[in-house]
Amino acid sequence: MSNGSSFPAIVARSRYFVNLPAIRALLIQFISFFFAFILLPTIWLLFGIRNDIIFTSLLQGVIAMSLSYWRQMAPWWRPIQFVFPCALVLTLSLQIPAGFFLAAFVFLLGFFWTTFRTQVPFYPSNSKVWDSIEKLLPHDKQIRMIDIGSGLGSLILTLAARRPESAFIGIELAPLPWLISRLRAAFQKSTAHFIRGDYEHRSLAGYDVVFAYLSPAAMPALWRQAALEMKPGTLLLSYEFSIPEASPSLIISPEFGGPDLYGWRM
Ligand SMILES: C[S@@+](CC[C@H](N)C(=O)[O-])C[C@H]1O[C@@H](n2cnc3c(N)ncnc32)[C@H](O)[C@@H]1O
Repeated sequence: MSNGSSFPAIVARSRYFVNLPAIRALLIQFISFFFAFILLPTIWLLFGIRNDIIFTSLLQGVIAMSLSYWRQMAPWWRPIQFVFPCALVLTLSLQIPAGFFLAAFVFLLGFFWTTFRTQVPFYPSNSKVWDSIEKLLPHDKQIRMIDIGSGLGSLILTLAARRPESAFIGIELAPLPWLISRLRAAFQKSTAHFIRGDYEHRSLAGYDVVFAYLSPAAMPALWRQAALEMKPGTLLLSYEFSIPEASPSLIISPEFGGPDLYGWRM
């Protein structure tokens, strides 16, 4: 039996899966649903409330919020957990055709793909950030730069248009943003190249500049990968999120009051 399918490996993978925040949140909702139904007869008896679905979903929300607090989930999960059962009941009461939910699910799946695992959703950087990055690129030679998690491809398309002699590559995990960036590159006749895939499974060794706009959760692993693979003298850039283990060699504010752009000379 291979290592990947051995019993300890399956247990480790299941444990990892169950500990993903979105999966934990869903499990907590199931547990809260169960607890709400255990508590309901007593509450109905004490307060004379009968078969009230909104009350039941509020109760489930309160339990889910409390369990999320107890399990030390990130603070933003608490309001989400509280509102979720009520929102579900209210949405069902609108009697929207099931096809709408399927279409919304397929769209969100295409756009966010495995965000529940990576904890890096799509949100774009802006033109001020792209200008700051352009200024930091080596200007005396052709370069190879990659945006790891390139979203809709705007940064890479912009830089490819400004520096036609150099190679600009984007890698994106989610299929829909990747497809949009491919189409944009084709329509603009850009030299930018977009790969669909996981940057964690690709080497960062062949790049002069690596740019990341990810999330705090992704930074420690990115640093380990960059320190192992990037060549001396190359540049790792991260917008908004620093790396706790490594103090940056440069910090720039692309716009007044906005997040910083961090750089590490490898
Ligand atoms: C915050 S957005 C940044 C988009 C773009 N770089 C920008 O500056 O506008 C992060 C993107 O990284 C993608 N992503 C997350 N984890 C990834 C991974 N392991 N490999 C490739 N892309 C990833 C997400 O799907 C998302 O589109």
